[in-house]
Amino acid sequence: MTGSFCTLIQWPGPATATGFLQLRLMPLLEREPPLAELEAALHGALAGRGRVVLVSGEAGIGKTALVEQFTHDQRHQVRVLWGACDALFTPRPLGPLHDMAAQLKGEWPARLSAGGPPAALFAVFLAELRQRPSLVIVEDVHWADEATLDLLKYLSRRVAGAPALVVLTYRDDELGVRHPLRALLVDLAASNVVVRLPLTPLSVGAVRTLLGERRLEAESLHQQTGGNPFFVTEAIAAGGGLPPTVREAVLARAARLSLSGQAVLRAAAVIGPRIEPALLAAVTSAEAYAAEECLSLGMLAAHGEALSFRHELARQTILETMPPTQRLALHRLTLVALRRSPAARADLTRLRALSALSMLLQVTSQKDEAERANQAALAVLEPLTPNRELIFAYNMEAWLRLGRNDNAGGVAMAEKGLALARHFEEDGELPRLYEIAGLCWLYLDHARGLEFLERALALALKIEHVEQTLAEPLSSPTHGASASTASPLLGDDALDGVIWLHTYVSADRCRAYCICDASSPGAVRRAAMRNSLPVDRITEVRILTPYSFT
Ligand SMILES: Nc1ncnc2c1ncn2[C@@H]1O[C@H](COP(=O)(O)OP(=O)(O)O)[C@@H](O)[C@H]1O
Ligand SMILES: [Mg+2]
Repeated sequence: MTGSFCTLIQWPGPATATGFLQLRLMPLLEREPPLAELEAALHGALAGRGRVVLVSGEAGIGKTALVEQFTHDQRHQVRVLWGACDALFTPRPLGPLHDMAAQLKGEWPARLSAGGPPAALFAVFLAELRQRPSLVIVEDVHWADEATLDLLKYLSRRVAGAPALVVLTYRDDELGVRHPLRALLVDLAASNVVVRLPLTPLSVGAVRTLLGERRLEAESLHQQTGGNPFFVTEAIAAGGGLPPTVREAVLARAARLSLSGQAVLRAAAVIGPRIEPALLAAVTSAEAYAAEECLSLGMLAAHGEALSFRHELARQTILETMPPTQRLALHRLTLVALRRSPAARADLTRLRALSALSMLLQVTSQKDEAERANQAALAVLEPLTPNRELIFAYNMEAWLRLGRNDNAGGVAMAEKGLALARHFEEDGELPRLYEIAGLCWLYLDHARGLEFLERALALALKIEHVEQTLAEPLSSPTHGASASTASPLLGDDALDGVIWLHTYVSADRCRAYCICDASSPGAVRRAAMRNSLPVDRITEVRILTPYSFT
């Protein structure tokens, strides 16, 4: 019954009279029970027992996908009328009714634009529903204008005798106590025509199905996204990183908080995946209501005594968009507060805080404190099941050890981080190899730098179908035998700070790839021009920075 369909479907979209075509390639997972309930309710409605179905859940949980699937399945049985409420600063009064009038055609559009008392319009609409079996979808009623809420109240009180199924979708996690939709919901609660369909997150198994052959880890993706299908599908499309769509969605939501609410959210993001209210209070001076606000807008969720971000991806977004100085200040406050509560030591929250703190301290050259913080993080993270925090802490440790001339130790740590990254990230290996090579270079360990560069390039050759054409194996032209081979280039280029490292040509021999160490893309271009080499594209391979660990 549930659809795994790859066909073009006609969405009776509200925006245009003709609707638009949408291609759904993803199967809808784990929605058999709500689809069956919708079908049963429609069955009753067609027999004259009209019903109102409330499809609720947070943004991205799949409300629209569910009703689209359902209307697609039922479109031959019943007339579908589709209306939507929009998040407008000035809501269109009766917006959804206008949408549906456009689909009803005939005298409807004229009747609506003629205006008149709403109650008369409602009565005419109800009469229309009594004429023909109808499936009425009103999407996103958390944004409904007051007139629409009145219409829905009117309909829900009279639908029982009509061959109509009215399906309302709304975000239940964004309804503050004074939200106008609440009054309608209270009204509906007493009604016996209402069917409630709260949608639940996807399971790890469903996330695994969506991942298919991709090399991301289902458990970890599930944990990061809280099983929210929107976050899952976007994160998969982005190959594991933080997709811009998720970032935008999270920031748009956070922007609706008051300034105190936003301050609490930032502190909570720094504290970590699990937030004890006492710790939050110690770190932020905001009033308690600000935390309440984060809860009622659905950014944070309560789990027994503790709070957490509803989605780990949301927490990452807030962290990443915070200025480093502010992050550092919050890390410090968190650490101070944690030192006062040793009982809480075993939880991931502070590990993340500790290793991130370590990174930030490193940037500000407070090495001893950074080392202690990272050691503390490693001591707790290593015995746990493999986790992303550990990649971060290993890389941090590599950076710290190389910094104090323990090159072998640093590289061993980088290798551990690399092995874990391979486990967690699709396509993560190549950039990380380049980065470790860069890190060794930075600390003047050219031999090890070359080793990593060689591994990176071997992988690049495999992935990008580029072949190596240098006569001798990789070596730095500034050291050893190949220095003389490269000297015609190096002499002048050194002036621009450009060191030519390696050259490759593509398998079809139409393109050459040069790797060089340089201060800027402009310097590379100048050096190339001086040597009459046509430069097409210059791609920067970042030298490892602490920020690239995150
Ligand atoms: N059960 C599901 N299985 C797979 N993908 C889903 C499922 N539900 C939703 N999606 C996908 O997740 C994304 C968000 O769903 P959507 O219906 O727009 O959420 P909502 O309307 O609740 O905000 C869409 O890309 C949708 O295709
Ligand atoms: Mg939707």
